[in-house]
Amino acid sequence: MTGPAADGGLTPPSRSHYFDADPTVASAPRDVRWSVAGHPVLSRSDGGVFSGNRLDAGTAVLLERGPVPTGEVFLDLGCGWGPITVSIGLRVPAATVWAVDVNSRARTLTRANAESAGVGGRVRVAAPDDVPADVAFDEIWSNPPVRIGKPALHALLQRWLPRIRPGGRAVLVVSRDLGADSLAVWLSTAGHRVQRVAGARGYRVLSVHPEATDQLPAATSASATSASATSATATSTADRHGHRG
Ligand SMILES: C[S@@+](CC[C@H](N)C(=O)[O-])C[C@H]1O[C@@H](n2cnc3c(N)ncnc32)[C@H](O)[C@@H]1O
Repeated sequence: MTGPAADGGLTPPSRSHYFDADPTVASAPRDVRWSVAGHPVLSRSDGGVFSGNRLDAGTAVLLERGPVPTGEVFLDLGCGWGPITVSIGLRVPAATVWAVDVNSRARTLTRANAESAGVGGRVRVAAPDDVPADVAFDEIWSNPPVRIGKPALHALLQRWLPRIRPGGRAVLVVSRDLGADSLAVWLSTAGHRVQRVAGARGYRVLSVHPEATDQLPAATSASATSASATSATATSTADRHGHRG
């Protein structure tokens, strides 16, 4: 959101983003009704978080048309108010889900929504720097924050993809108009095997298989439940727009 500059326009207007650490947008809690595998879910959302009024269309494509989540330890990278975390928690009864976001309001919402969905005991909500270094993931699921800009998005993926266990994968949903195809090309160029596994309504679901994860520590149940957390065929051509922020 944009507000007028206090000095009559001499300085750029301040901006609030859904990826701010502490949103300045006034809190305005609201209900979001959505479903997981046909079962209704009632969650809470708020201003200052991504898609605060509804389940995002891209996230819906990911959850409805993406692959079946497989494994025990998951990372929801950029959890927002928590739909991916809640969905995996409900669909995979043995799952531990790490829900990570820079936005403190998003983390609070995810914690509450996981609790109300009955999966809070298996969700570890954390700021990125608070995920213990010895936790590795079977799968990373994400509707990634494309709007942080291409260099930051690449750095984000370079930070977390190496933490996927051997044989694991990342499942990403990205809008075609916001650069899904060029992101797939970049991931392939970085050495990952990328497949487009689903798509609908202008969104691509990408399955990313990191190639060089031999150096990762094996995640253990103990590390997956560490108390230090605050109780969680690439397309070959770049698209016209590039994956911009
Ligand atoms: C496109 S939103 C998706 C939110 C939620 N998963 C959903 O599907 O509704 C991306 C999220 O990533 C978060 N984010 C931005 N930068 C991040 C970072 N460096 N590390 C972790 N999360 C980040 C944003 O705050 C935002 O909540």
